[in-house]
Amino acid sequence: MVDPIVILGGGGHARSCIDVVETEGTYAIAGIVSPEGLPVMGYPHLGDDSNLIEIIDRYRNTLIGIGQIRSPHVRIALYDRLKSTGAFLPAIFSPKAYVSAHATAAEGTIVMHGAVVNAGANVGCNCIVNSLALVEHDAIIDDHCHISTGARINGGVHVGSGTFIGTGAVIHEGITIGSRCIVAAGSLVRDNLDSGSVYASSKR
Ligand SMILES: CC(C)(COP(=O)(O)OP(=O)(O)OC[C@H]1O[C@@H](n2cnc3c(N)ncnc32)[C@H](O)[C@@H]1OP(=O)(O)O)[C@@H](O)C(=O)NCCC(=O)NCCS
Repeated sequence: MVDPIVILGGGGHARSCIDVVETEGTYAIAGIVSPEGLPVMGYPHLGDDSNLIEIIDRYRNTLIGIGQIRSPHVRIALYDRLKSTGAFLPAIFSPKAYVSAHATAAEGTIVMHGAVVNAGANVGCNCIVNSLALVEHDAIIDDHCHISTGARINGGVHVGSGTFIGTGAVIHEGITIGSRCIVAAGSLVRDNLDSGSVYASSKR
């Protein structure tokens, strides 16, 4: 018997999440909760914010399928709301990702196709480790971070909570990045960043 799961969000990130859930196979997608009111990839629209609690009561398992770039606020608020209503937020790993048996990823985190989370790495809750991203050995990713497509977090890096690492960014080994930072797409980070930094290593 396959457990049902509800996807919150109906945009592009939600569609990528659906593909991971389908490929992984532990959960059957019961439907979508979104303000748009539309089915997504053939899954029915179950409701929106107004009946979220009833939906959680019925299905329990949820995955936040809303993306995060400039601010983690929406994902954090939703995560806190889901937790307070008794939802379960399983960590979901694409079978096309590699998550070391010596690494951890907490609840609500999704590790998407082609990503690598290597030995000794710890990824917090409600994170996105997006397609083809690398979280190398012993790196620590705190809660509510988005490690974008193809970003490379090298060994021993510490990324603070709510931080966004843009697509293709490279973080040198051992660097500490504070909380709620934005690292622009394609940046090379060689020095520590204070919390709240917005960093782009070179102009486009
Ligand atoms: C950092 C980011 C959020 C800034 O977006 P923004 O606020 O709209 O910024 P703008 O595009 O107006 O650019 C502001 C300035 O930063 C520079 N800049 C923006 N992104 C940059 C980048 N990736 N590298 C270098 N410089 C960059 C711009 O050239 C511009 O410089 P100027 O003020 O001298 O003209 C955005 O550029 C970015 O990296 N987005 C993430 C994309 C991504 O990784 N998506 C992942 C999806 S999985």
